[in-house]
Amino acid sequence: MWTGTGRIDETYIDNERAARILCDTPLVPAPGQYLLAYALSEPDSPLAVPVFRAASHPRGFYAAKPLPVAWTPGTILSLRGPLGHGFHLPASARRVALVALGGNPARLFALLEPSLNQKAEITLLAESTPVGLPPAIEVLPLTALAETAPWADYMAIDAPRAALPNVQSLLASSGCPIDILVETPLPCGGIAECGVCAITCRNGVMLACKDGPVFNLKAIL
Ligand code: FES
Repeated sequence: MWTGTGRIDETYIDNERAARILCDTPLVPAPGQYLLAYALSEPDSPLAVPVFRAASHPRGFYAAKPLPVAWTPGTILSLRGPLGHGFHLPASARRVALVALGGNPARLFALLEPSLNQKAEITLLAESTPVGLPPAIEVLPLTALAETAPWADYMAIDAPRAALPNVQSLLASSGCPIDILVETPLPCGGIAECGVCAITCRNGVMLACKDGPVFNLKAIL
C-alpha cells in the first residue's frame, strides 16, 4: 500500500469516466481495487472517498463515476492504496460477461481493456447503454442474464450488498469463475475496523474493504 498525492486533471459529465487523475504508477488501482482519497483543500472532510479505476492512462488512471462534484480540475488529492482485492480475469477467458446489477457499470469498465487485449468477446448486461463504450462490446438488458450465464467463461458482477441473495441462482446456471464487486460504503479501508463494510458470507462475516471488495462468488455464497 502506498500514500501520495494525485491531481484531478480533467472531469467528465455523463460519462462512465468521472475524471482523469494523474498520480504515480504504484498508486494506480488494478481493476476492482480502490484508493481512499480526500481533497487537500477539504482537510476536515469527515470521510475519505473510495476511488475505482475505469480505464488506464499513461500518467495515472481514469476514475470511475461517481466522484464528489467538488473535485474539479486542479484539485489535489491525498491518496492511500491500492486497497483490497480486485478482479481475477483468467488469461484463458474468451467470452467475458460484465453484469452491472447496481445501475453503475463504471467500475466494470476497467476490465474492458485487459479483456480486449486477450481477444475476448465482451457482453455487458446493464440497465442502459453507457456512453463511450467501444463498438465491439455487445450490450444486453439485465433480463438476459440467465441466458448469458452459460455462454460466458468468465463473469464479473458489480452489485450492491443487498443484491447478494439475488445472484445465488447464477451459481447453478454457470460453471465459469464469477467475481463480484460488492458495493458498500468503505469509510476506513480496514484501518479502523469500523465494520461498516461487513457482509455475511457462507463461513461468517467478511469485510469488503480488505477481504474484497471483489470476491469469488462461489467462495462467499
Ligand atoms: S471500511 Fe471500515 S472495516 Fe471495512
